[in-house]
Amino acid sequence: MIFGASGDLTSRKLVPALYSLHRHGRLPSPFRVLGCARRAKSDESWRAELREALGRSHRAQPVDAGAWETFAGSVFYCQGDLAEPGTYARLRERIAESSDARLTRNLLFYLATPPDQFGIVVEQLYRSGLIRDESVGSRTRVVVEKPLGHDLVSARRLNELLSRYLGESQILRIDHYLGKETVQNIVVLRFANALFERVWSRDVVDHVQITVAESSGVGTRGAYYEQAGALRDMVQNHLLQVLALVAMEPPVSLEAEAIRDEKVKLLRSVRPIMPEEIGRCVARGQYTAGVVSGRAQCGYRQEAGVNPGSSVETFAALRLFVDNWRWAGVPFYLRTGKCLPIDASEVWIQFRRAPEVLFTARCGPRLDANALVLRLQPGEGVTLLVNGKVPGLELVLRTVRVQFKYAAEFGAYTPEAYERLLLDAMSGDTTLFLRADEVEAAWQIVDPVLRAWADKPLSESEFYPAGTWGPASAEELIACGGHAWRVPQPD
Ligand code: BG6
Repeated sequence: MIFGASGDLTSRKLVPALYSLHRHGRLPSPFRVLGCARRAKSDESWRAELREALGRSHRAQPVDAGAWETFAGSVFYCQGDLAEPGTYARLRERIAESSDARLTRNLLFYLATPPDQFGIVVEQLYRSGLIRDESVGSRTRVVVEKPLGHDLVSARRLNELLSRYLGESQILRIDHYLGKETVQNIVVLRFANALFERVWSRDVVDHVQITVAESSGVGTRGAYYEQAGALRDMVQNHLLQVLALVAMEPPVSLEAEAIRDEKVKLLRSVRPIMPEEIGRCVARGQYTAGVVSGRAQCGYRQEAGVNPGSSVETFAALRLFVDNWRWAGVPFYLRTGKCLPIDASEVWIQFRRAPEVLFTARCGPRLDANALVLRLQPGEGVTLLVNGKVPGLELVLRTVRVQFKYAAEFGAYTPEAYERLLLDAMSGDTTLFLRADEVEAAWQIVDPVLRAWADKPLSESEFYPAGTWGPASAEELIACGGHAWRVPQPD
């Protein structure tokens, strides 16, 4: 059951993912999708809208007419105001139309609504008897998506509210980055290979860079972005989740709780950023007009829905330290931004330099340190950079790549993040969803920065032209630690 069925998330991500699962025979049988929103629509008109949106989102792959017909036959719409008890009574009736107990007892509620409606929907679901205790033989779960609060206090309030009506195992908090194949592969790479554990620590790692660069601006999402900014939109969730997976200790098992325990432990080991260190540990920026990939881009302040004097950051960079035995002293640099030159998300793990003897002594600074690059998107894969001899009579060394590419190894198909997440939500596997304490631990890291930035107007040096790699302060931040940002090369 999707609340907020008229919204963008439903037509652009959720329904295409459900259709694709159906097409690959992965949906449970029987299944039904029931959409609920305020606008008046019939089952048929909603199906027609979804079909059109699917055509747009699946441009690369034509929609299979037969698969769509069978899928659409299980899709229904129910109009209603989410605050009205009558809406939930009607939903109950529609659910009861089915005589199959599997369809009346196993219910997944997806809250694709603005977050200020989470409380009212969950409360009404509870009061109408649609949310049931899992112990009575039914399965009822609720999926929520970010923003999960806008700071630590509001995130705690939200967790408290959800837990009033639901058990923790019934609450599925989505971070769609965890649904990405390349993000899941971080755990596999680290713990299915003996090779990496030996080098995965302060003894061998010099520093780590996590970059999530986007070439597009905020587009039509200006009004939302004004309330968010890069720190809330990307760092608190996606980047910190990637950090947790890269740096956590080996879990005791692959059970959801074991993995989530390790992630929370890691997030809690991140050294708190003190107010007096903000200037040295974080940098922010906002794009001004420029050119990105040959097209003109307006400045953030000129975007629709944005305050012309806004000081909201569209770029954020942080230097974090993980104060535990494995990582003490190793800087983790995180950065993300809109209107950067390219789309590229990657983790760059740079190893210490080879000792200044033998080849290093001979080749000097020309000899690069080794690095392992986890390319999250695009150009998904893993690259190990090592030094090799250039064939020839002279002794010339240069960096060469040992490379694994998803496309070459597995072909083009990688499921959309939402396919995996929806399937796991239906089967109740919570591994890829965030636990309440995990969300709070992540807010705890960014909260001091949010407080420092609130009401502090951007200075001249914090602006960057669209199509560049962010403000000068980001370069200074990393230069302070004796490092430089790597330009991702998603070839
Ligand atoms: C969303 C953010 O969570 O992630 C967007 O709200 C961002 O601002 C998007 O563009 C990036 O996701 P992806 O999967 O395209 O990297």
